[in-house]
Amino acid sequence: MTSPLQDLLDSNRVWSAAMRTQDPRFFERLAQQQSPKYLWIGCSDSRVPATQIVDLPPGEIFVQRNVANVVSHTDLNCLSAIQFAVDILKVEHIIVVGHYGCGGVQAVLDERRLGLVDNWLRHVGDVAQKHSPLLASIDLMDLRHARLCELNAIEQVLNVCHTTMVMDAWERGQKLSVHAWCYSLANGHINDLGMHIDTRAALAPAYEQALQRLTRMPRLPHD
Ligand code: CO
Repeated sequence: MTSPLQDLLDSNRVWSAAMRTQDPRFFERLAQQQSPKYLWIGCSDSRVPATQIVDLPPGEIFVQRNVANVVSHTDLNCLSAIQFAVDILKVEHIIVVGHYGCGGVQAVLDERRLGLVDNWLRHVGDVAQKHSPLLASIDLMDLRHARLCELNAIEQVLNVCHTTMVMDAWERGQKLSVHAWCYSLANGHINDLGMHIDTRAALAPAYEQALQRLTRMPRLPHD
């Protein structure tokens, strides 16, 4: 019987065979255990696939994706992913990855109604409101959009750091850093937003520094 998704299934077999050719024990090894060092919290956008854009194979990144890479304190899905990654997998890095050209962020700026998702995007709306003086000072619409994508990643890092899982990990001396990135669809480059937090004490100064850094960047990173 042919599946309506036969093209995908065929590609899967070709990919699997190619992986085995490269490394005959690849699947055998992975099937036994995953031990990723990274938790990726990114946007659901199909153009921002976690392992592919940092050129890592399966098994290297634990992934949580949702519309506009939001970390909400009441989202059981995201909190569970963080808890599992930190407590069980003992990842060493959590990376919040925003991306320029994010449709969710754009919808917030345009105050466009999309449906149920507007309620989710209200979290990004809160970020926009928090930083309204900075955003209002930017005339160029593209740059304002880019800045909100960056601010959103930075604010979500703050939310990650404030979870009980991350606070407890630092408290017991577990090695764990939280980072903010923003990926460009225009050239495939990741812009490191300069936020690398590995202790509770480092959080506030790193946040302030990242914001300062943004206000000094008058251009789009991919221009
Ligand atoms: Co997006």
